[in-house]
Amino acid sequence: MLERIKELQKEIEERIVKSAEELEEVRIKYLSKKGEISRLMDDFRNVSADQKKEIGAAINTLKNFALDKISLLKEGLAEQTAETKKLDLTLPGDPMKAGTRHPISIIKNEILEIFKRLGFVISEGPEIEDDWHVFSALNFPEEHPARDMQDTFFITRNPDILLRTHTSSVQVHDMETMQPPIRTVTPGRVFRNEAISYRAHCMFHQIEGLYIDENVSFADLKQTLLYFARELFGEKSEIRMRPSYFPFTEPSAEVDVSCSICGGKGCNVCKYSGWLEILGCGMVDPNVLEASGIDSKKYTGFAFGMGIERIAMLKYGINDLRLYFENDVRFLNQFEGAN
Ligand code: PHE
Repeated sequence: MLERIKELQKEIEERIVKSAEELEEVRIKYLSKKGEISRLMDDFRNVSADQKKEIGAAINTLKNFALDKISLLKEGLAEQTAETKKLDLTLPGDPMKAGTRHPISIIKNEILEIFKRLGFVISEGPEIEDDWHVFSALNFPEEHPARDMQDTFFITRNPDILLRTHTSSVQVHDMETMQPPIRTVTPGRVFRNEAISYRAHCMFHQIEGLYIDENVSFADLKQTLLYFARELFGEKSEIRMRPSYFPFTEPSAEVDVSCSICGGKGCNVCKYSGWLEILGCGMVDPNVLEASGIDSKKYTGFAFGMGIERIAMLKYGINDLRLYFENDVRFLNQFEGAN
């Protein structure tokens, strides 16, 4: 019997396990009620009295040995799994999705690039402005409705400090600080006190352009805008001008581009007119030139301005202005790789 005990001890000593299931098998084989050690206990009854002491001690030692071994194996297993979790360098990394450009940025850059090719430089100015740069220098009469609380956000009770309602204010800064020839495009955020809906927002983006030099004519304006429309909406695009009114330009016009979706035949985007309104423009009013210290007898100029949201809506078929500001990734991801 001592032989058998020795054999079992050797067997147990040599066991290795790779999983919790294997460990459980070892426990059942040696330590369960029907296991090897219980069987030894059964046989122990038949051992002669003079051997009882020695064999009893040996069985006890074996039992303790088996218990120790199992707890050792258990520790080993736990360490092993912790180790593999910590050290498995072959596991793939957590995917990190790169962001995409916002459609407003994409279209803004595209528009700026077109005018840069014509020699325009980019200029930017403050969003918080004074009355002079937003209204007075631009020939707005005192009673003009844009000066009303209904349309303009005033910062303080003092109506001189306000959020700009258009980026034409930057053009006033440019005229005050630059000498003609001046050729600038001014992108930026503008603010108007409007109820938010699918077609209006209290904050949106504009790009305005200004060109002042000797002998700048309406023909220059028209050709510049035709070039712009063809670069942005495709070379088959046509433009048409409709007479309009702005305090700072005379004459003034609204510009439509032939609908790039139906090619001018009529569809629901152009409301079956074949044309899409894209911007306002005109020849800079001599009063505006003089207010900024530019000699209106020597120089003439043109200006134009457009809303970036509107252009992006036309180009991408976006039908709700609010989508731009909600930052829903399902919306934003659609512009992945667009630019
Ligand atoms: N500032 C005008 C607007 O915000 C746009 C415009 C700019 C019109 C320049 C004519 C000339 O609507």
